[in-house]
Amino acid sequence: MCGIIGYTGPRKTTNVLLEGLRRLEYRGYDSAGIAVGRISGEPRLQIIKTVGKIAALQHEVPKDLEGAWGIGHTRWATHGGVTRENAHPHLDQSGKIAVVHNGIIENHRTLRILLEKKGCKFRSETDTEVIPHLISSYYEGDLLEAVLAALQHLEGTYGIAVVHADEPGRIVGARNGSPLIIGVGNGEMLLASDITAMVAYTNRVIYLNDGEVVDITKDNYSICDRHAKKLDKKIDEVSWALGAIEKTGFMHYMEKEIFEQPESIARAMSGRIDLENATAKLGGLNLTKRQLADVKRVRVIAAGTSWHAGMTGSYLLEQVARIPAQAELASELRHRNPVVENDSLWFVVSQSGETADSLYAMREVQRKGATVLGICNVVGSTIARESDGGVYVHSGPEIAVASTKAFTSQLTVFYLFTLLMARMRDMSREEGTRFANALAAVPEMVKETLNQRDHIQAIAKKYYRAKDFLYLGRGILYPIALEGALKLKEISYIHAEGYSAGEMKHGPIALISPDVPSFFLVSDDYLHDKTISNIREIKARGGPVIAVGVEGDTETQALVDDFIPVPKADPRFYPFSMVVPLQLFAYFCALELGRDIDQPRNLAKSVTVE
Ligand code: F6R
Repeated sequence: MCGIIGYTGPRKTTNVLLEGLRRLEYRGYDSAGIAVGRISGEPRLQIIKTVGKIAALQHEVPKDLEGAWGIGHTRWATHGGVTRENAHPHLDQSGKIAVVHNGIIENHRTLRILLEKKGCKFRSETDTEVIPHLISSYYEGDLLEAVLAALQHLEGTYGIAVVHADEPGRIVGARNGSPLIIGVGNGEMLLASDITAMVAYTNRVIYLNDGEVVDITKDNYSICDRHAKKLDKKIDEVSWALGAIEKTGFMHYMEKEIFEQPESIARAMSGRIDLENATAKLGGLNLTKRQLADVKRVRVIAAGTSWHAGMTGSYLLEQVARIPAQAELASELRHRNPVVENDSLWFVVSQSGETADSLYAMREVQRKGATVLGICNVVGSTIARESDGGVYVHSGPEIAVASTKAFTSQLTVFYLFTLLMARMRDMSREEGTRFANALAAVPEMVKETLNQRDHIQAIAKKYYRAKDFLYLGRGILYPIALEGALKLKEISYIHAEGYSAGEMKHGPIALISPDVPSFFLVSDDYLHDKTISNIREIKARGGPVIAVGVEGDTETQALVDDFIPVPKADPRFYPFSMVVPLQLFAYFCALELGRDIDQPRNLAKSVTVE
């Protein structure tokens, strides 16, 4: 969604801002803009805004635009259409105060009426524009003081960065429900909504909490709360190398991230398998053995792909650890007045750690007394910080909007947690060793599956013109079918639905025709024969079938039109290998169709609105 970057220091400001905005592109946006303070002559802010891509913005920026500090923004429209006027930065009446904003100001209508009565002329339809006017109404020569006064009137969520033409080199930022991070450099400072925007300049960062306000110049920063009380905060060092956020020879981030999975899965389990005791070690849970032993139920809060990981994890926990488990859609749960039982353990799964639906649902169950553990990728994200404990998945930055490697890392954490819980209950040491060894073998299994790349591309070339697809699986492969359908929809814009294969006969089978291909996931476990029967039902009605199945499954291979083999393994682990062909199939269909794969239309990486 929207992204913020601010810079003050000796570098060419426009370059840092444009580079930062380019790094934020992956979050999804529809317009962008910058405000750069002029350092010589009459103090003035130079504003450049465009609809469309950063390349278009760069085109508009004069090569000789000078300035030693400034702010930039990528906008994902919520209030008001995608127009140049609605793009940020927004200005006050005098044109001297500029603001970029992520989030939603809920009382903007009331504020707008009040400000209009005072003579402010609004130039956009956004909620954001009330902020510069409000700050201006309190400005008496000190930007921080004016921002603090204005914040007292804002209701809703915000991450903001503010500059004033008369205060060269100074940027004031504030956070409430929308991330803001300070980048501490050597003789330079940055402010951004996402570390990726500044990792090229510094790896020393300070995460702001809700209610905190920051005041930066090139050599200094100070942090206070909304009542101007000074706060001391520690600097964190992030370990990302620049290579982690570059394409390194791949055509798209998505392809790179699909191919990174053997390493990212290995990272997620690194140091967490205890082979000697045939169990798992998860340091951040903050729960005693007794508390873990007393857990009677697991509930998982998540959205989208993370929900599919949670659903797979729930199936596994029930099957292997014999703990009733259920994955909940965050957007539904929060508004359902959920029942929170004393003996339930809750997880919230979120790659970004900023998804508003998941965050608010987490807060709602916490309010009712739940203990919630986070499974997050982004270190220091809001969910990671507000959860009662948790596990980082260590995928490394996921830049493509469509989630791939984070998904398999989330799965890895659920497999580790299942092993831990199962060993505390009925699982024998021998069975624990088998499970742990099978888990340790997953990176190799995924690597072998990736060798099917060319075969999958050829299949995509055969089917990409189809208008509708069905994705079908049973048991633990049912959530993987849902994930396959979501991936195809997201990046190729082909309509696809995921179903439990057994549910087909209850309605969706009416869709089957020679124009509607079905993608089957076929395990070699107790559900194999039932899945084969479902394939026969579709073949009998003239529907083309592609199957991802186990190497050597000649029965399935003979029955279907196209077959993608995965290495034979413990069937409980097929979610890892079987999701890979679905990711690649979606990728290659989107490639054939010429889609914007890393930034699909209408989507955002981190969905910070409800
Ligand atoms: C799918 C996708 C989304 C996210 C969902 C939750 O490819 O990326 O469905 O999975 O928006 O996001 P996180 O995991 O950041 O909470």
